[in-house]
Amino acid sequence: MLHLAVRDDDDGDFGEAVLAGLAQPQKTIPARFFYDTIGSELFEKITALPEYYPTRTEVGILTANGAAIATAVGPGRAVIEFGSGSSAKTPLLLRTVAASAYVPIDISAEFLDMAAADLARKLPELPVFPLAADFTRPLKLPAGIVGRPKLGFFPGSTLGNLAPAAAIDLLRAFSDTLGEGSWLVIGLDLRKDSATLEAAYNDAAGVTAAFNLNLLHRINRELDGTIDVDDFTHWAPFNADLGRIEMHLRAVRDTSFTVLGSPVTMAAGETIHTENSYKWTLDEARLLARAAGWDPVDAWTDDAARFALHLWRRDDGAIEP
Ligand code: TRP
Repeated sequence: MLHLAVRDDDDGDFGEAVLAGLAQPQKTIPARFFYDTIGSELFEKITALPEYYPTRTEVGILTANGAAIATAVGPGRAVIEFGSGSSAKTPLLLRTVAASAYVPIDISAEFLDMAAADLARKLPELPVFPLAADFTRPLKLPAGIVGRPKLGFFPGSTLGNLAPAAAIDLLRAFSDTLGEGSWLVIGLDLRKDSATLEAAYNDAAGVTAAFNLNLLHRINRELDGTIDVDDFTHWAPFNADLGRIEMHLRAVRDTSFTVLGSPVTMAAGETIHTENSYKWTLDEARLLARAAGWDPVDAWTDDAARFALHLWRRDDGAIEP
C-alpha cells in the first residue's frame, strides 16, 4: 500500500484542517485524511477492482521490463522506496535489479514495520533499513547504505495526487535525498479516454464511493459531526483542461450540519473536493522530469497504453553550453 503523506499519526490536526477546508469557497478536505483504518482497508480493495487497472497494469509492466531496468541501472543498488511497500511490486523490483539493500520510507512506523516484516519473509537475505520520516522533505538516509549506488522507487501513480508545481517540489526533494548518480523508477497513470478513467474512480461495486464517503463518516465519528451522509454522493469526473480525475462529495439536496459545533451549510449540487489524480502523457512526464532535475532515460507502457513506468537518472549538472 502506498500513500503520499501522513496517516493516522497526524490526526491531531484533522479538526482544524476540516474546518478550514469547509470554510473555503470551493469546499475541500485534504486527501491524507482518507487513510484511517477503514479507509486503508477500502483502498486495498480499490487496487483489486476490475475497473481499477493501474495496480495490475503497473505490475505487468514491471514484470515485462525488469530486465531492461536492471541493465540500465546495474546490479547491487540500494533501493529507496517513497512510501512503505506492502504490495507485490516491491519484491519484484528488488529481485529484478538484484538490490543490495532496501530502505522503505513512510511517516507511519506501523506501516513500515509491516513492510519490513513482509520483506523479511520474501527476501530473508536482504538488509532492510526502514526510515520513519516525511519524504516530502530532503532526508538523511540510514548509515547502513552510505556509499552504495541508489535507486528510488515511487510506484502507484502517487505522484499524480499532486498538482504539477507540488510534484516538481517533491521530485527535487527525492533528488536531494538520493544524491549524485542516483536513478528513479516511477509509475504514472497515462492520460486516456474519460470513460475508462471515470470507471476506474467510480467502480460498479461502489468501493471508491465508500472510500470517499468514509471521510464524512470519519468526521461524524471523530469530530462530533452531524452530517447526514445520505445527503451526499461520490462524484469523480475527468477534468480534461487540467488533465486530472477529481474526486468530490456532492450534496444531492440542500443540507446543513455541524463539525466540532461549527455550522456548515451546503446547497444542492455543491461539492467538497477531496482528491486529484493527474494523468501525465509520456511527453508531459518527460518535461516534468527535466523541470525537477531528472533526465528521462526510458519509459515502458502496457500494450493498451494505459499506464507508464518511467526510468529517470539524476541530472548531476554536467557542463553544457
Ligand atoms: N495514486 C493512485 C491514483 O490516483 C491511488 C489513489 C490515491 C486512489 N487515492 C485514490 C485511487 C482514491 C482511487 C481513489 O489512482
